[in-house]
Amino acid sequence: MIKLNASVTDKTNFFNGSDPFDLAARYGSPLYVYNERILRRNCRDLAGMCGYPHFKVNFSAKANSNLAILQIVREEGLFVDAISAGEIFAELAAGFTSDEIFFVPNNISEDEMRFAIERGILLSVDSVSQLERYASLNPGGRVAIRFNPGVGAGHHEKVITAGENIKFGVNPEDIPNVKNIIRRYNLSLTGINQHIGSLFLEKTQYLKSMDALFDIAREFEDLDFIDMGGGFGIPYHKTEGQGRLDLKDMGDSLAERMTRFAGEYGKELTLMVEPGRYVSAEAGLLLGTVHAVKFNGPVKYVGTDIGFNVLARPVMYDAHHDVEIYRRDDLTSGKRECVNIAGNICESGDILAKNRLLPEILEDDLLGVLDAGAYGHSMSSNYNNRLRPAEILLREDNSVRLIRGRDTMEDLLRPYVKL
Ligand code: LLP
Repeated sequence: MIKLNASVTDKTNFFNGSDPFDLAARYGSPLYVYNERILRRNCRDLAGMCGYPHFKVNFSAKANSNLAILQIVREEGLFVDAISAGEIFAELAAGFTSDEIFFVPNNISEDEMRFAIERGILLSVDSVSQLERYASLNPGGRVAIRFNPGVGAGHHEKVITAGENIKFGVNPEDIPNVKNIIRRYNLSLTGINQHIGSLFLEKTQYLKSMDALFDIAREFEDLDFIDMGGGFGIPYHKTEGQGRLDLKDMGDSLAERMTRFAGEYGKELTLMVEPGRYVSAEAGLLLGTVHAVKFNGPVKYVGTDIGFNVLARPVMYDAHHDVEIYRRDDLTSGKRECVNIAGNICESGDILAKNRLLPEILEDDLLGVLDAGAYGHSMSSNYNNRLRPAEILLREDNSVRLIRGRDTMEDLLRPYVKL
């Protein structure tokens, strides 16, 4: 086998000595491949980023809710957030206890609230109307509130989750209403939280939002925690040498501000962060197969099995993922060319990479789509009745473990009821 454009996986020894062709033959293509060593390292980097003594990291499981991934994250001492009862269900199955799960939903039903209440899981509400609904179900209970700090950030407007014209969070102007409901229902407000958006590579907006959250915190007595949310970015343009978020520097700034605020507040509040992408993105790679190569007019199309049902990010957010090329035999042409890499979904927008300058790609090559461990499989679907891929884990001892089977044809039909 030869590898082209593969400086990243070569450097990280991503495949641990496994051969991508063997993996694809054994588990099918497309295939999500995770590296345990990288996943654990990311968890440790996050856990150690901030010297504030009461610092907690909650993995945002929407990035990747595979049970084995959750188990490893738990072994590394991280806690989790959840956006839905389904995520809570998976997290409990992975071994997290109720007090290690923070439920941060948006616009949920009473049934979903009860699901958390019955299990003793702390819930954060993000509107006054949801607060009142929750209060009526759980008077005298604990609650957290997600505020909109008025500052947003993120790689695409669809994932900026605070600031103006955003569906999330309680606006600070509603604090009098919030206080009123808390008093009437004798609730205990244990924490306030925010999430300003997803993927930033520098700290300015995050720190600005922290100051806004402190202002909100001053309005409430006896909070136990402040949760800053996630959003820590990773460099998707690795082959161009894009720089990393300086975690340590971010952690130092958080610690300094939090220590100062805790002193003023008169209580050693817990500081929480909620990263998803940073934990799992770089630990995952998506393997796919090139089934066709053709020109349509001047444009060369590389036709693969990586449709947007498998990886939605490029189509949904115009997101960039670096691509490596693996070839069974040494047929290197040395040519570089500009290509569109397409999937097999019945839409012309089904393009994984546009106008990408890469070494010439041939039929039967495998492609390695980098940084696919977050919002990859968790956003995949059965559109076009395609099977969601298997997921495998390259373990630290170099063994390979199947951690999610590929869907079967029977899986596709299971929920349906024929007339
Ligand atoms: N906490 C809350 C309340 C969130 O809504 C999110 C992400 C996170 C934490 C974790 O954010 P992260 O650290 O992963 O950036 N599908 C998009 C990202 C959507 C993020 C939604 N919320 C993507 O593929 O870029």
